[in-house]
Amino acid sequence: MQAAILLWILSLLLKEVQAWGYRNGIFHNSIWLEQAAGVYHRESRKGRYQLTFIEAKAVCDYEGGKLATYEQLEAARQIGFHVCAAGWFDKGRVGYPIVKAGINCGFGKVGIIDYGFRLNKSEQWDVYCYNPNSKECGGVLTDQQKTIQSPGFPDKYQDGQICYWHIRVQLGQKIRLSFLEFDVEDDTSCLADYLEVYDSYNDIAGFAGRFCGDYLPEDIVSTGNVMTLKFLSDASVTSSGFRLQYVAFNATETHQ
Ligand SMILES: *[C@@H]1O[C@H](CO)[C@@H](O)[C@H](O)[C@H]1NC(C)=O
Ligand SMILES: *[C@@H]1O[C@H](CO)[C@@H](O)[C@H](O)[C@H]1NC(C)=O
Repeated sequence: MQAAILLWILSLLLKEVQAWGYRNGIFHNSIWLEQAAGVYHRESRKGRYQLTFIEAKAVCDYEGGKLATYEQLEAARQIGFHVCAAGWFDKGRVGYPIVKAGINCGFGKVGIIDYGFRLNKSEQWDVYCYNPNSKECGGVLTDQQKTIQSPGFPDKYQDGQICYWHIRVQLGQKIRLSFLEFDVEDDTSCLADYLEVYDSYNDIAGFAGRFCGDYLPEDIVSTGNVMTLKFLSDASVTSSGFRLQYVAFNATETHQ
């Protein structure tokens, strides 16, 4: 009986490890959790606490979402959404969701740490967005090889899409990703539409590149048996998208 309880606690701890991680010095949730909750945290591409209220709204719009309401943020928190960074949410309120009390974050409290409705909308914070439809494309892939393409390829992909593909092959294998066709709205820093590749099973660790435009990127080889692809399109121009292929190979093989 006691062993069972211990195992249960251990499994909770393990889940927590998988669901959370540090990125840019900020505690982030896994994309699974964000998708389940529909709520996600964003900071400016310039870094932490750089968004005015107007800019914060634009960040959510950009990915086809809206500012999260207090209720949505709390509902997300109740399934484990924990972020140690204050952000704008609906109606100019600022706060952040804390699941686990800590000295360095949330004043040792649990719940939505609420800074209230800000009178000065020029203050700069991060943002909490809500988009329940951001899980329409992508999936979990375990085949030894497979072709992945943007939604509707070779027709133009739609605006406001967020797709995640998680690739997981056998332990001891690696993944080689080869781009077959690539045409994603071009802009200098790939801020509008882009494909991101992570050498990991989430989009927290192992960033391997962000791609847009119509140059065919070079092959990418994983260091382990997992990889994640994230495709994001904004609310304007679209292009025909991309088609790529992954192949699993035994890590011990020298010729790849
Ligand atoms: C509002 O906040 C901004 C940014 O923190 C600051 O520069 C500005 O002085 C504030 N305005 C008022 C009226 O307090
Ligand atoms: C990869 O390794 C497994 C055993 O670890 C073996 O059964 C399989 O044949 C190998 N595949 C190739 C292509 O060498």
